[in-house]
Amino acid sequence: MKGLKIVATGRYVPDTAVTNDDMAKLVDTNDEWISSRTGIRQRRLAAGEPTSFMAVEAAKRALEAFSGEAEEIDLIVCSTITPDFHTPSVACLVARALGLKGAAAFDVSAACSGFVYALDIAQKYLETGAAKTALVLSAETLSHITNFEDRSTCVLFGDGAGACIVQPSDGRYASILGADAETAHVLYATIPYPPTPFEKEEALAKGRAFEVVNDGFIHMDGTEVYKFSTEAMPACIQAACEKLGVQPEALGLIIPHQANLRIVRTAMKRLGLPEDRAYLNIDRYGNTSSASIPLALDEANQEGRLQPGSLVALVGFGAGLTYGCALFSW
Ligand code: UT7
Repeated sequence: MKGLKIVATGRYVPDTAVTNDDMAKLVDTNDEWISSRTGIRQRRLAAGEPTSFMAVEAAKRALEAFSGEAEEIDLIVCSTITPDFHTPSVACLVARALGLKGAAAFDVSAACSGFVYALDIAQKYLETGAAKTALVLSAETLSHITNFEDRSTCVLFGDGAGACIVQPSDGRYASILGADAETAHVLYATIPYPPTPFEKEEALAKGRAFEVVNDGFIHMDGTEVYKFSTEAMPACIQAACEKLGVQPEALGLIIPHQANLRIVRTAMKRLGLPEDRAYLNIDRYGNTSSASIPLALDEANQEGRLQPGSLVALVGFGAGLTYGCALFSW
């Protein structure tokens, strides 16, 4: 069976809501600039909840909505760029917290495209029969890698998690994944390892893929990422539609990565689709990296925006620079 069916969804966001006016107390910015340039009005920021805690809470809610048993889950794939530990993975911490014994569990790192990558990996396991019921989730504590003194980035990001339970189906499925890695330097956050007694800063600097500010915070050339995103988003939706032999008009709902309202508007215009064909919640959560798509998916599901049998497109783009689109029947 080539298709997949999302049989349950769940989400978690921290209680702490930080408005644009709150951000204006930290840096030289204002509500008008943030909302008109991005569509963001507030974001939720963790008040100590680690990434794995948010992942577990989102997974619990998906399990509550699941008509089967937790023991059926035999694969856990979690997308994150802000794990609690180098090891164990967030997926393993979810398995531990929820007692999901015997499931294969691992994380994937594809930044804001991560949920689409994770779902596509799960689809391959389901298609081959290597797994029967997958828990696919994304959880991000971007506030841990945000420089709250840098107005060009700190107003954009939020924290949260989304999860779904996936099973094989005989419905339609197509995906497009890719990376334009020659532009990797326009969006990065280093891991600022303390130097070992044997390391020399000159050798480290020379060996790095590109010149960096090694402070662990997100650094972004917003204009370059904006240009990439407005092209990558419609292009990969179009390419995924071509794989299925349908026109973008056939899509019932597009759930895009929530990075910027203007990016989504431009992409929808390029696809010739009305804006309300895309699900948007960026005003409430900001950019939560790979968590943004499953968060939006769960909200769209609860709001009844997903009709049985209709075609859904999930589309992500972000650091790497990566992109991905998954198309399937709801
Ligand atoms: O999730 C990963 C993918 N990420 C994205 O897709 C982000 C893509 N990029 C964007 O969404 C936009 O480029 C931003 C929202 C990041 C920036 O919007 P922009 O319209 O491209 O603004 P800009 O960077 O060109 O900056 C315009 C002006 C600058 O001032 P000058 O040089 O014109 O005097 C900035 O210094 O706005 C200034 N500025 C701000 N002003 C008030 C930058 N940040 C702020 C701020 N408040 N927070």
